[in-house]
Amino acid sequence: MSSVVSYEVVKNIGVIKVDSPPVNALSQAVREGILTAVQNAQNDDTEALVLMCEGRTFIAGADITEFGKPPKEPSLPDVLTALENSSKLVVAAIHGTALGGGFETALCCHYRCAIASAKVGLPEVKLGLLPGAGGTQRVPRIAGAKAALDMITKGDPVAANKASDMGLIDEVLSGDDLQAAAVAYAQDLVESGAPLKRVRDITIDPASIEPGFFDGYRKALAKRARGQIAQDRIVSCVEAAVNKSMDDGLAVERELFTELVTSPQSRAMRHAFFAEREAAKIKDLPKGTPVREIKKVAIIGGGTMGGGIAMCFANAGIPVVMVEINDEALERGLGIIRKNYTITVQKGRLSEQDMGKRMELISGTTDYADLGDVDLAIEAVFENPDIKKEVFAKLDAACKPGAILASNTSYQDVNLIAEATKRPQDVVGMHFFSPANVMKLLEVVRADKTADDVLATVMQIGKKIGKVCALSRVCYGFIGNRMLQGYGRQAHMLLLDGATPEQVDSAAEEFGMAMGPLAVGDLAGLDIGYKARQARTDVEHDPKTHCIATALVEMGRMGQKSGAGYYKYDAATRARQNDPEVEALIRDKAKELGIEQREISKQEIVDRLFFPLINEGALILEEGIAQRPGDIDVVYLYGYGFPVAKGGPMFYADEVGLKNVVARINEFARTLGEDYWQPAPLLVKLASEGKTFADWAKENS
Ligand code: 3HC
Ligand code: NAI
Repeated sequence: MSSVVSYEVVKNIGVIKVDSPPVNALSQAVREGILTAVQNAQNDDTEALVLMCEGRTFIAGADITEFGKPPKEPSLPDVLTALENSSKLVVAAIHGTALGGGFETALCCHYRCAIASAKVGLPEVKLGLLPGAGGTQRVPRIAGAKAALDMITKGDPVAANKASDMGLIDEVLSGDDLQAAAVAYAQDLVESGAPLKRVRDITIDPASIEPGFFDGYRKALAKRARGQIAQDRIVSCVEAAVNKSMDDGLAVERELFTELVTSPQSRAMRHAFFAEREAAKIKDLPKGTPVREIKKVAIIGGGTMGGGIAMCFANAGIPVVMVEINDEALERGLGIIRKNYTITVQKGRLSEQDMGKRMELISGTTDYADLGDVDLAIEAVFENPDIKKEVFAKLDAACKPGAILASNTSYQDVNLIAEATKRPQDVVGMHFFSPANVMKLLEVVRADKTADDVLATVMQIGKKIGKVCALSRVCYGFIGNRMLQGYGRQAHMLLLDGATPEQVDSAAEEFGMAMGPLAVGDLAGLDIGYKARQARTDVEHDPKTHCIATALVEMGRMGQKSGAGYYKYDAATRARQNDPEVEALIRDKAKELGIEQREISKQEIVDRLFFPLINEGALILEEGIAQRPGDIDVVYLYGYGFPVAKGGPMFYADEVGLKNVVARINEFARTLGEDYWQPAPLLVKLASEGKTFADWAKENS
């Protein structure tokens, strides 16, 4: 028997068990093990088979590490054909998450049972792929074309009960003993003479699909998919499921899967998948570093960020106490949280009962003396170093020994904040992104004296509240905001050079950014940058990098909140509109600065926006601020709306070729001046050696 697949006979049922940690992915060994077990079982005296897994989950999909390498026999389709054609009834018994190829394996079994906590799904689209082992043909045959498309194009897992309503699961099992329940279910099926149900035998009547349905679906998807090709190919596959035979539909699926698996988009998205998981690991932290228990959390400051952060913990079932300067501010802070939850309830995404439970977990105080029992305090007060230090001194006095003291600061020096306490080892940065209850990124900032167990705890709690964590050392703006400076600077300078706000933003959006840089400025409020520039008196601000933004604020154009910024905003729809007044302002400012305006190509806009990100990223790597290029990618993917289909700025640089990036930066240095165009030494070195950031990551792992 295979080392990762075992076979055991329980009464009259043969139990095939996969045991291949961590997630029982369909590696070559697993495929071979299942195939051999199914083939051998055809000739023993069992009456039915159960396919199940050990460990945390049923098969979680194809082994993603095998993609892009030469295929190894047996192929997944061969294994699935053997299962589906088994002369003995096969039952898939699901726990954890049956995903991708894992769920497709279950769909080739004749019956599927699952424990109530299990989930099933086809998340391939999140890797720039489509289900390549029959999922696009079998799910529509069971659940219908519309439900199948919704499930496959979104890629989100479906809970067992819902999957049962959709017909994807035949039996939701009760009790905790999966094997016993699955064997009993298989015995019932045998006793009742249940037929070998093969999904491939179900036919869909093409007349049941409204004319134009697929075209309409494609159009609706185009908005959501933002240039990702997998969604379009998924529609083609489901269309084939409706209009073609099973075998022809499978052939279409295989062809389109092969196209996607070799596409740059999928390569980028697979990189993002592994980068996200790697970013959670801190290179020099000893294995088994203990973690501190976090049972209660304090949030200091109930403003924009504090409220969102409090919701993250309440959503994860962790009690939170919010601290504000007075009762009025506290009431306002708690009121905003209540309002946010109410909107979610109105949208039908949260029950009133659950909202009640979450609100019950959030309490408030104006007295630091109430913080004696918290395990973690997160400061989110005004971005002012003196106020922050004062707050940390108070936390140091009020919190018990061993409590972790974290700051959500965007720019302040966490080492200086730590010095305001007698426990710098307990001080760490936890930099959330706005809106904090929605954005997935958590930058964990390691100060010079932060203890290992504090870092391990923060990484763990970050995951628990649903965040993707990436580690940064201390520097101005940490990884994300530090890199953003060059991006924002170029957006502004492009205007002076002759591009319109719409040209800059739409070039960034066509590249795949969720929103262009100037529209983001309008959304966040132009007054924020204005105040930050005023507060930062230690550096001289070059007017070329901010004069238009400054003038807009001084004209009362703060962005969306005042109805106008770089754009005018429709009061009802919030749609942005070009504003001739702004275009005239830009022309005037360019004249004042002696800049001759010209036509700017889309390519120049894209390169001038994104190459500074790459260059600063290289400096950040070299200085040891980030651990790996992949961590920088994770920061941009989850914190700044960088398109996942491009894998993050550092992966994008590798795809463009570092030599090309350096050549373009040198060209900009010649044509635009050297002030902001100095290629980072690491970038130059890697380019001259013909290497990539991925090579650097391997050499420095
Ligand atoms: N292949 C290879 N490795 C995988 C994997 C996969 N499909 N899924 C997870 N892993 C690895 C992770 O990289 C991680 O490795 P590490 O410990 O060395 O960092 C480890 O398994 C644990 O993963 P997580 O940290 O994500 O564990 P969680 O418990 O948080 O989540 C999970 C488990 C929900 C299964 C999650 O890992 C997941 O979503 N996996 C991907 C599922 C997926 O996309 N499946 C489809 C694959 S494509 C496919 O099947 C094509 C087919 O249609 C032909
Ligand atoms: P905010 O102005 O909305 O809220 C700050 C809150 O802190 C106010 O409600 C204020 O009453 C309260 N406060 C001030 N001093 C206090 C004290 N001594 N004790 C208790 N409460 C006090 O500010 P915002 O936007 O929430 O920012 C907070 C922090 O988060 C800042 O450091 C900021 O740089 C950072 N940040 C902000 C982001 C954003 O997009 N707004 C994103 C990421 C980080």
